Amino acid sequence: MAQTDNQELASKILPDLLGKRMLVIGAGGIGKAAALMAYSLGVEIAVANRSQPKLDQLRKTLPEISTHLINAREQTSINRVLGDVKPDHIVLATGRVQGFASGSIDLAEAMDYFGDRFEPIMAIANWIASNAKKSCSFTIVSGFIGVPTMGNLAWSAVGPAIKGLVEHLAVELGPTRVNAVAPGPVVDTQMARDVVGTDEGVSAMAAALSKQLPIGRAVVVEDVARQIMMVAGDPTATGSIRFTEGGISLVPSSVIADLHMEKEGDEKN
Ligand SMILES: NC(=O)c1ccc[n+]([C@@H]2O[C@H](COP(=O)([O-])OP(=O)(O)OC[C@H]3O[C@@H](n4cnc5c(N)ncnc54)[C@H](OP(=O)(O)O)[C@@H]3O)[C@@H](O)[C@H]2O)c1
Repeated sequence: MAQTDNQELASKILPDLLGKRMLVIGAGGIGKAAALMAYSLGVEIAVANRSQPKLDQLRKTLPEISTHLINAREQTSINRVLGDVKPDHIVLATGRVQGFASGSIDLAEAMDYFGDRFEPIMAIANWIASNAKKSCSFTIVSGFIGVPTMGNLAWSAVGPAIKGLVEHLAVELGPTRVNAVAPGPVVDTQMARDVVGTDEGVSAMAAALSKQLPIGRAVVVEDVARQIMMVAGDPTATGSIRFTEGGISLVPSSVIADLHMEKEGDEKN
């Protein structure tokens, strides 16, 4: 579909997007997909990232975007970039995957992980409270929010906390709309590659997910980007969590645990 057709459709279905300015923080697989999709829908795009290489790559694909270095965990850095960009929409797609199992939790590492998750959210909330144009939205790409899985204490803690934060901030920052998009495993990302370890492992994970998920295929970055557009573009969406996990939390036995077993060579029948 041509970009102008996309934009006409977007202006009808997602009226808060066309002609607006979106800042995507985090230029990894999901942030990049969100930036490209928003651009195709007629949104002016700025992307901010902790280091330069991914920003340079993105500018090769999309020379029209503005790029910014940021440390999303620092209030001064958030204030500087958001103050420069003055976004209508903010998408936070930073964060890392780390499990933590009872019995072997390194407390300092765990606190750093929680800081990595929560500091950017609170710094952005501070900025919105005192600076944002009233029409803006704030979308958080969270980790998996689902059933507890062995060895993933951090995920189990962060998911409900993000839900609580989103609901709180939706009330406190309104009329700015605050939502989260919660993916399960997204197979075409560096994060998936890092978790599983090899390209063959990622292919095996995608095949296992295709067999086990109700949707019959694995989730990819465009699926997550689409949900980001839905919540940013819908003028009534606030305080919500959009799950983009293909039904993984409905599968009776834990698909994630099975995937870890497959990584260790314990093939699923
Ligand atoms: N991929 C998945 O399977 C998956 C599943 C569920 C949830 N998620 C969540 O989705 C989000 C994005 O995932 P992804 O796959 O796109 O991750 P990714 O490829 O690892 O990208 C994360 C990006 O965020 C940047 N970043 C990290 N900390 C930062 C900070 N403090 N300030 C500024 N930039 C920072 C990184 O910069 P550098 O270039 O310097 O590294 C990187 O470009 C994360 O919250 C992740 O937990 C992902």
